Amino acid sequence: MTAPTAPHLWLRHEARTTERRTPVVPEDARRLVEAGVRLTVEESPQRIFPVEEYEAVGARVAAAGSWVSAPPETVVLGLKELPDQPTELTHRHIFFGHAYKQQPGAADLLRRFAAGGGALLDLEYLVDEQGRRLAAFGFWAGYLGAALAVLHHRGRLTAPLRPTDKDTLDETLRPLTGDGEFTALVVGALGRSGRGARAALATAGADPTCWDLAETRDLDRRALLGHDLLVNCVLATTPVPPFVREEDLDDPARGLRTLSDVTCDVGSPLNVLPVYDRTTEWTDPVRTLRKEPPLDLIAIDNLPSLLPRESSTDFSAALLPQLLELPAGDAWARCLERFRRAERELGTDRGGFGHE
Ligand SMILES: NC(=O)c1ccc[n+]([C@@H]2O[C@H](COP(=O)([O-])OP(=O)(O)OC[C@H]3O[C@@H](n4cnc5c(N)ncnc54)[C@H](O)[C@@H]3O)[C@@H](O)[C@H]2O)c1
Repeated sequence: MTAPTAPHLWLRHEARTTERRTPVVPEDARRLVEAGVRLTVEESPQRIFPVEEYEAVGARVAAAGSWVSAPPETVVLGLKELPDQPTELTHRHIFFGHAYKQQPGAADLLRRFAAGGGALLDLEYLVDEQGRRLAAFGFWAGYLGAALAVLHHRGRLTAPLRPTDKDTLDETLRPLTGDGEFTALVVGALGRSGRGARAALATAGADPTCWDLAETRDLDRRALLGHDLLVNCVLATTPVPPFVREEDLDDPARGLRTLSDVTCDVGSPLNVLPVYDRTTEWTDPVRTLRKEPPLDLIAIDNLPSLLPRESSTDFSAALLPQLLELPAGDAWARCLERFRRAERELGTDRGGFGHE
């Protein structure tokens, strides 16, 4: 990294029209400005916080997408994918690149950085020295994954899903007189999304069974299939026997009625729920896997976007200390090193093809 003077940070508009979240909320923008960071915020029609709130705390406002002509030393900050243009990326970019696990489009993105000499500081790889993520949306993913499952189970889930706020969501989650009891299981219960799922289930008046690594080591699939609701929140790092198999779908003794897959590892060899082949969408959040006995699936891969204010606020609070370290900081150095490794693996670094 370059000399440790406060950088010029540029919060960009998100290209994806349904993305209302932001990695920096106005209150934290104030802290950045007070710390001497030069902050530019792009206008963005869908961002949950109006640009005026950033302007009021001392940020400079720029047009949506104008980061492309920002000065070269600028660090461009966003959450999700960049627009397709320009093909040459010259800046340092902080966002979720999804570029290191051979995801679709990963090689193209790395080539764009190689072509422009820029760098990706991927938020998924912003970790402490133990490798723990420093800023993540998991809690709210789990909260929503469990909330949608309960609402569906109670016949109160309406489509299309729309972004909301926690108070409104919680209103619909609280049990009404006449709501029947149900059993719920959260797997991966000790993680970020597992904690979120447990919180939502508590609001819904349920007391879930909680499993993590210790409880699935010797998997009791019959017990698992005996719950009405399953909320899967695991982050698998090595292949394990699937929690639900194709043959379990046709098991007449299966009690499971709603499967909410927060993990959404569809297509991955690490997938613990290999019983479906594509995620579900905001327009159509529930898919019937079996009619008899009934089993419905909810597998939405952008759950935290449904609570953009709360999820942005928490994420921004976690990211702020790291942004204050820029352009130095061990965590950013680890991010950059991960990017350089991906470049080398692809043979796009300027050292030439495949050289270490
Ligand atoms: N659907 C979405 O919108 C969305 C959003 C954010 C994150 N996610 C995904 O949710 C998953 C969980 O994320 P997180 O932040 O909660 O991760 P985390 O690391 O905080 O928690 C994962 C938990 O799973 C447990 N676990 C791992 N393997 C297990 C096994 N075989 N059996 C039982 N427990 C096991 C771990 O011990 C840990 O407690 C990730 O795959 C992440 O990509 C999805």
